[in-house]
Order: sequence, then structure tokens, then C-alpha cells
Amino acid sequence: MANIRSIDSVDFTGKKVLVRVDLNVELDQKGDAMERFKLEASKETIDKILSYPGTRVALISHLGRPDGKRDESFSLLPLVDDVSRALGGVTVRFAQDCIGEAVTEGLAALADGEVLLLENVRFYPGEETNDKNFAASLAAPFEIFVNEAFSVCHRDQASVTAITHILPSYAGKRLLEERAKLDEIRANPARPANAIIGGAKIETKLPLIREFESTYDAVLVGGKVANEAFDQGITFSEKVLLPLDYQGGDERLDIGPKTTAVFVEIIKKAKAIVWNGPMGKFEEKPYDSGTNAIVYAMSESAANIVVGGGESLTILERGNLLEKVGFVCTGGGAMLEYMNGKTLPGLLALESADA
Ligand code: 3PG
Repeated sequence: MANIRSIDSVDFTGKKVLVRVDLNVELDQKGDAMERFKLEASKETIDKILSYPGTRVALISHLGRPDGKRDESFSLLPLVDDVSRALGGVTVRFAQDCIGEAVTEGLAALADGEVLLLENVRFYPGEETNDKNFAASLAAPFEIFVNEAFSVCHRDQASVTAITHILPSYAGKRLLEERAKLDEIRANPARPANAIIGGAKIETKLPLIREFESTYDAVLVGGKVANEAFDQGITFSEKVLLPLDYQGGDERLDIGPKTTAVFVEIIKKAKAIVWNGPMGKFEEKPYDSGTNAIVYAMSESAANIVVGGGESLTILERGNLLEKVGFVCTGGGAMLEYMNGKTLPGLLALESADA
């Protein structure tokens, strides 16, 4: 495994540090974050950087897909209080832009221990096109770059990759932990090893199902992906278990009781589990029951469990089960791609970053 420089040996004293975080969370109608996990994921790294005297820290993130244009409905401003809470009460100030004077002035106005949150980086088209000049504008006010967002490492974008060619760049603690956990469960799982794949979009999940079909002992498939696999006539080996019955009539909105019982028995015997995606339309009762049953079985299990994907995360957060079901990865798409053996541009950039 290639080496990525961690922040452990970096002296941040007096340095201006740009930290890429992932604040891409769902907001409620008041603009409050509906999830806290992703926001809290960078706390340890930010605490560590702030522990050096005179350091100045800015956070950069995207929110949604504003298509390279300023659009206030995708502003990160409403997240200031959420971020402050997630960082344990640190004062968070806001810069109306992610480049230029708003950033230099915002940094200059910070007191020790405060953090500057920059406006949505996807307000500029150069972010998604990984534009070098845009990356240079992002980098200009800073001396060090830290990527603490495993969940955006599958994006070849300016605040993830191009910037690492400009600033000395390091990986945050959480990013490295997620990579290590995924490496371990992918390459060397305890047996029996099972994957549970649900949610939507067979086109993105099929490669993952295939991967686990060849490397794991069983793959339990539910949710929309199971329906799509059936409807498209996709066939699997006997290692892949599709639902035997459903709830929700022709719409097949959840796995049925027989399937749930089979899945739960397999989960009970597993020594390693990767879970990504719900078994049904979990937002609507009673179609959450298949998902609840497998989540409960996992919460009772002593297996090495790794969970990823936005919806799986939401389910655990809402059920207050984040600490009870294994290791939770911030990455949705990033986790899927990494588990599939793809090289993530954000990780590759850190491997080759000049220090
Ligand atoms: C995510 O939520 O998975 C990441 O923030 C990536 O978001 P994106 O799919 O809009 O790039």
C-alpha cells in the first residue's frame, strides 16, 4: 500500500492551513444539518492543528451540485452553528467566498482557536473541472493543505487533487483510518465474510456485488437494486442471495419476512460484514422493517463491520446506533469505488504530493 503522509509529524505552528472537509449533508427547512456524523468526522484533525500556537485554519467543502455558479440555496452559511457544535464549540467564522480577499481578510481576523468556514467551493466551475488556476487561487492564502474528506476522494476536483500539486499536502486522521479499515476488510476479512448491498442504482452497485461475489462468502442483496437486478434479468452465482419474498405488493418496497429471517441468520454467523444501502423504502413505515431487522442483527454481532453510504449512515444516526454498528465510513460513492479496487484520485494525489 502506498504511503500517504499523515499530519502527525507536521509542525503547524504559525501556519495558515486549508482543510478539505465534507460538509455535504442534507439540510432541513430551517437550514440545520440533518446529519452530524460527517461534520464531526474532522474534529480530531482540526483539534490537532488548532493545538499549535498561532495556526490559522480554514475549512473548505462543497454542498450539493450548484453547477459552478453562485446559488445561495447551496450556501454553507447555514452550517456555521452545526460545524461549531460538531467541533465541540469552537468559534466558526464565515467567509462569503472561497478565494480572494474574503479569505485573506477572514484569516487575518481569526483569533487563536477559531476556524474560518469558506463558502461552497462548487460556486466556481474550476472546482469540478480540476482547473489548475482555480486551485492556485484556492491555495494562495495558505501554506499547508490537509485532506480530511475520504468521502470526496473519488472526485478529481481542484480542492481535492489539483491543490496538492501547489501546497505541501497531508492526509487527515479520519481519512487514513477509513482507508485502513476498508483495506483490511477488503483484503483480509475474517470468515465467513458477508456483504449486504441495498439501496438504489444497480449500475453503481453491480460492480460491487460482483466484486464480493468473487471474494466474500455471501452477498445479501435487497432494496431497489434487488428489484432492478431481477427486472434486468441479471444472474448471479449461488453466493448472491436475492429476496425470496417482499412487502409492498408489486412495488416490492421491502424484503419480506422469509428473506429477513434468512439474512439475519447469515448475519449472526458472520465474522466480517460490509453493509451499504437499505433493504427497502426505509423512510416509510412499515417498509423499514427489513432494514431495521438487519441493523438490529448487526448491532448484536461481534463481527468486524464496516458501514458506508449516505442512507446507511442516516439510518444509523436516526436510530442512535452509530456507536453500536461497527465502523462507519463517511464515504458513499467513494467507499463503493474504493471497495471495487479503483484508485481514488484524491488518495493518489496525496501519495504523490510534494511535501
Ligand atoms: C458525498 O456526499 O458522497 C460526497 O460529498 C460527494 O458528493 P458528490 O457526489 O456531489 O460529489
